[in-house]
Amino acid sequence: MKKTIIVPAYAKINPVLWVKNKRSDGYHDLQMLMQSVSLADNIVLSASREEGIGVTCSDESIPSGPDNLVYKAALEVFELLKITPAVKIHIEKHIPAAAGLGGGSADAAAVIAGIPRLYEKTVSLADLMEVGAKVGSDVPFMIRGGLGLAFGRGEQVQFLEKLSKPLIVVLVMPIDCPVSTKWVYQNYQPSQNSSKASTFSLAVTAYIKRDLLALRQFAFNDLESVTLHRYPVIQRIKEMLEKNGKGVAMMSGSGSTVFGLFYTRKDALDAISYLEGMPVMLELTDTSVYQNKFV
Ligand code: C5P
Repeated sequence: MKKTIIVPAYAKINPVLWVKNKRSDGYHDLQMLMQSVSLADNIVLSASREEGIGVTCSDESIPSGPDNLVYKAALEVFELLKITPAVKIHIEKHIPAAAGLGGGSADAAAVIAGIPRLYEKTVSLADLMEVGAKVGSDVPFMIRGGLGLAFGRGEQVQFLEKLSKPLIVVLVMPIDCPVSTKWVYQNYQPSQNSSKASTFSLAVTAYIKRDLLALRQFAFNDLESVTLHRYPVIQRIKEMLEKNGKGVAMMSGSGSTVFGLFYTRKDALDAISYLEGMPVMLELTDTSVYQNKFV
């Protein structure tokens, strides 16, 4: 058994997010494009002599102990391995919480991929993803990461080839706009639009081809209608990020983060200059991470 390992937990963005319908189990059927970005939390996993699962976090505003999603993830993976839990988990937080970047899901996914490594056990990706689906809808994708199409409530994933060249990603987090994913879905009003399926595939094709001009025309995130209504600043951020005409700006997941996609760092920095004076936090990242090296 290894004593300590450090597993990166990458954030994600959704260049396209289509909410298809509400299901009888309360979830929504989705079709979405998921892209990992280099911004990551670090998960420190240490084998412990004491039984139990200890969770600590560098950010005091995030729950530690059993209230953290990684606790459930660890319980489930120990059950799969048929080992009595005995681990300490420390989360070094860099991904903003409640921001639509999948930070909590990424941490859970890193724990699911990491604990078998800590115990030097081999588990198939399919089995790890099955455990992930019990923990959260975005978790299966994040166990492997990279680029993928997600279906169902998000837990069914078709992984795709990485982009021929990474894109530069600007993440813009409006200050004091925390968003609960549950709240956004509860307030979502489905709209019937028969051309959604073809727009979705045009947007996915544009993304895969790195055609930002076409992506700007076809990309959409159905959840924007809910979060934007509550926080109009999101619309202003999108407009500012697209003002220089060099990139595409969208809300990520249920928000409130807005991401901008650009070909070059220069274009990204130029776009950021239009945000001057706005109450936002910024991260410059990219799509160069491909696959979690732990699976
Ligand atoms: O799966 P997860 O726990 O991350 O989802 C959080 C909440 O978001 C769910 O309780 C549900 O209300 C909502 N959700 C949804 N449809 C999805 C994913 C999430 O309604 N496909």
